[in-house]
Amino acid sequence: MDFSELIQKRRACHSFETDRSIPEADLRQMVEETNLTPSGYNAQPWEFIIIRERENIVRMGEIAFSQPHVADASALIVVLGDSFIGRNVDAILADWLKYGYCEKEDLPVFRNSIAKNRKPEQLQKMALRNAMLACMTLIYSAENMGYATCPVMGFAQKKMVKELNIPDDRVIALLIAIGYPTSVSPKPRLPRKKVDDVIHWERF
Ligand SMILES: Cc1cc2nc3c(=O)[nH]c(=O)nc-3n(C[C@H](O)[C@H](O)[C@H](O)COP(=O)(O)O)c2cc1C
Repeated sequence: MDFSELIQKRRACHSFETDRSIPEADLRQMVEETNLTPSGYNAQPWEFIIIRERENIVRMGEIAFSQPHVADASALIVVLGDSFIGRNVDAILADWLKYGYCEKEDLPVFRNSIAKNRKPEQLQKMALRNAMLACMTLIYSAENMGYATCPVMGFAQKKMVKELNIPDDRVIALLIAIGYPTSVSPKPRLPRKKVDDVIHWERF
């Protein structure tokens, strides 16, 4: 399937077959492909909590306001953004140097650009921008491997943070439910805006 077809085919799945699992190798491949997502400074400020145990999935379904497709999914992936952009600054700069993206004498300037003091809201925004792109890659990777997905934003944030032991400097981008679609026909896709209603040429 080419990428345009995949874009046309992808739907938010609301009916997963229960009690099926996804091989670990497939989940790893999804993350491997997702790691190719572009990110500012190539910082890759994302992490994934992969939930596969049935009782944990069911618990997450409760936290997601009892949305049945969350509890029925074969795996849930909680995508996190890392709002401490400077965490891996040494590794980032080492790669830049090694692969010829900067000279040794430029390192202090780049280090300052990556790890400079930023307001917490700015850091969270940066983390979210990067992590949301990773979400989209993850969704298309899973779909390309024949799975169905549903992006889920409807969950009790504080409960999820507590349940999954998420540290303060990580921000939840999205919960992605992945599984095998049932034979229940999905409702028709909701209409999308017309291209001319969303484009501003040159200026807003
Ligand atoms: C950020 C985001 C949050 C969403 N949250 C939920 C959710 O909590 N529950 C749900 O069933 N679908 C959720 N969806 C799926 C949307 O409802 C769905 O993508 C949209 O209606 C368009 O349908 P389509 O994806 O089938 O084209 C979410 C999608 C996005 C992008």
